Amino acid sequence: MSKKETAPKDRNATVWAIEPHTSAKHAILRHYLNAWFPVLSSWSKRVVFIDGFAGPGSYAGGEPGSPELALRTLLDHGHATRMKETQFVFIFNEFNTERHAELEAHVDKLSVEHKGWPKNVVVKVHNDNFKTVAEQILTSLGDDRMAPTFAFVDPFGYKDVPLELIARLMKYKQSELFIYWDANSANRFATGNIVDEHFEALFGTDEFKNAPPAGDANRMPFLHDLYRRQLAAQCGFRYVRSFQMVNSGNRTGNYLFFGTRSLKGLDKMKYAMWQVDPTGNFRFSDMLNNQAVLFDVTPDFTVLEDALLLEFSGQTVDIDDVVTYVIEFTPFHAGHVKMKTLKPMQAAGRISSPNQKRAGQFPPGTLIAFP
Ligand SMILES: C[S@@+](CC[C@H](N)C(=O)[O-])C[C@H]1O[C@@H](n2cnc3c(N)ncnc32)[C@H](O)[C@@H]1O
Repeated sequence: MSKKETAPKDRNATVWAIEPHTSAKHAILRHYLNAWFPVLSSWSKRVVFIDGFAGPGSYAGGEPGSPELALRTLLDHGHATRMKETQFVFIFNEFNTERHAELEAHVDKLSVEHKGWPKNVVVKVHNDNFKTVAEQILTSLGDDRMAPTFAFVDPFGYKDVPLELIARLMKYKQSELFIYWDANSANRFATGNIVDEHFEALFGTDEFKNAPPAGDANRMPFLHDLYRRQLAAQCGFRYVRSFQMVNSGNRTGNYLFFGTRSLKGLDKMKYAMWQVDPTGNFRFSDMLNNQAVLFDVTPDFTVLEDALLLEFSGQTVDIDDVVTYVIEFTPFHAGHVKMKTLKPMQAAGRISSPNQKRAGQFPPGTLIAFP
């Protein structure tokens, strides 16, 4: 595969043209933060958002970069007033000097547009290697002052993202990671002995060397699953989910990995991913630009019906347990359960309830009897 297929075509430019997969990545980030900021602010008086590879602030066509998206998601949020008792610290970091200058100017412009940041918002822009900034954050916050941290780690490749360092950033139990993982390079170089030093840092192990040989259909799944396992084990994430990005050459370029210890966080992220891929395959293709599916696809809830009938066969189960099962063990999210799946199942006589007040409604405490 040529380098062109995974990197922006003008990677050396200070500002480059946005690509479809970047817009998809941004959409997931926006949907997630929109749901997650209010949850975090109800848990903590302080929240940290780190964009470790922040870019120049905007794209060639004027599209906003990730720092602006994150900031606007909070500032323009319908519940912004409710969140004002929580301090939100945004840390944006960009290593490249010219891009950093662009980013700083862009953030300043946003601040002026908002007549200065609200009192509960702190914005810091750094010009350093992510590894240095992460160490600085860890030192300056100290164990006692760590707050729920959402780290967006969005490098061009596989360098400067050591798992050991990310794991330390994720130590606080409500912290979460959203990382753009260079699957294409992992696939190309895993058994090549070319960049082992970087891969050992990336994976936090040298087990990538055991990947099936190039060309074997199991090679990419092996590497994907190894990275997922390592994220879970080293960062202490209970849940790790990925979203596949297919490049214009119809090959997997990257996976977006999300790690959390929270079932609620997992649910909100699945919701965000469904917004970008309404088929529920957790996949976006630059080739198709997902146009065909964006407007005319409705999820196939019979798949979920069948999964529930199989899992709970012969049992009477509390609605909360049904929802938890769906979030944890199926591709679906909580919003898919009651009205989209259980209600039609009940109407069709496929399930019943011994204590429901009104058919088709499933408030807490409702028991569902599965045949
Ligand atoms: C994929 S782009 C970021 C895009 C941005 N997050 C967005 O979504 O709009 C990756 C950026 O990381 C920067 N970069 C590369 N190596 C870095 C490092 N070690 N530390 C911090 N930034 C780095 C690059 O200059 C580039 O601007």
